[in-house]
Amino acid sequence: MTTDVLVIGSLNFDILIQQDRLPHLGETFTGNGMMMMPGGKGANQAVQCARLGLTVNMVGCVGQDMYGQELLQSLEKYQVATQNIKRCGTSGVGIVQIMKEGDYCSTIIKGANYHITAADLKDAFFSDRPLVILQSEIPPSVVDEAVKKAVRFGCTVLLNNAPAREIAAETLRQVNYLVVNETEAAFMLGTPVKDVTQANDAALQLSQRINGTVIVTLGEKGAVVKSAEMLQHFPAKPCANVVDTTGAGDAFIGALAWSLVRQRSLSEAIPFAASVSALAIQKYGGQSAFPTLSDIEAQQVSANVT
Ligand code: RIB
Repeated sequence: MTTDVLVIGSLNFDILIQQDRLPHLGETFTGNGMMMMPGGKGANQAVQCARLGLTVNMVGCVGQDMYGQELLQSLEKYQVATQNIKRCGTSGVGIVQIMKEGDYCSTIIKGANYHITAADLKDAFFSDRPLVILQSEIPPSVVDEAVKKAVRFGCTVLLNNAPAREIAAETLRQVNYLVVNETEAAFMLGTPVKDVTQANDAALQLSQRINGTVIVTLGEKGAVVKSAEMLQHFPAKPCANVVDTTGAGDAFIGALAWSLVRQRSLSEAIPFAASVSALAIQKYGGQSAFPTLSDIEAQQVSANVT
């Protein structure tokens, strides 16, 4: 079977803590609730692609612990191919603190995600020219090698530099789609990115470092796209019922990937990704909150009716 998307990235076991605010240093603070679920930017993006009907192969590493087992089972439940996920050491963990309004902050423990090596990237993974999706929760050397191989095999490369880190100039130059949020764009440029005007500037500057399109996402302020054809701001989809924005960026990228595989234009792809992301943030958790095409159609029908 051919593969639409190859995700080379992280799998984390997430501990979500619901709380009214962050504790101060030295304070013991009482939270409101806790959930444990599969996450990690790589796995989340792979699942969103699969939920939309793409065939997805994931390369990564989980621990030889019970969390590793659960992370694999979740991917399998959503039909993501897991035969190229190694087991080694202890699983990566995400501690996600979710505030009342749905905003979050998180700390990740790399764990097994840093046991993937460039040697794990077999030529065969790239040979049917899939879209290759990468993030920054695995070793930089693996991302560098993945980009080299992807280019050699004629794949399209989408890099989500999250969490933001320095990317080798040579690697960045080969990227076809760079997706970053405002914090990640600010890190890469060393200047604040807080509004649409600053995001326009950031997208322009970042586009000089890559070989393609830059997308700067801005949460409820939408997204700015800089491609060969456009420098354009797309508004976010209105969303009254936000409970957890943890996987919003991952849902956006999975949906963007769907549009790229289906050869939709960016003018169609970005509003679609915004709709998918808006649906994902109305439920707790990453992977189980991600919508299918039927969920999206149902939402559109109900929006037209009401
Ligand atoms: O993007 C959300 C994800 O970031 C969480 O699942 C967490 O594990 C971190 O990787």
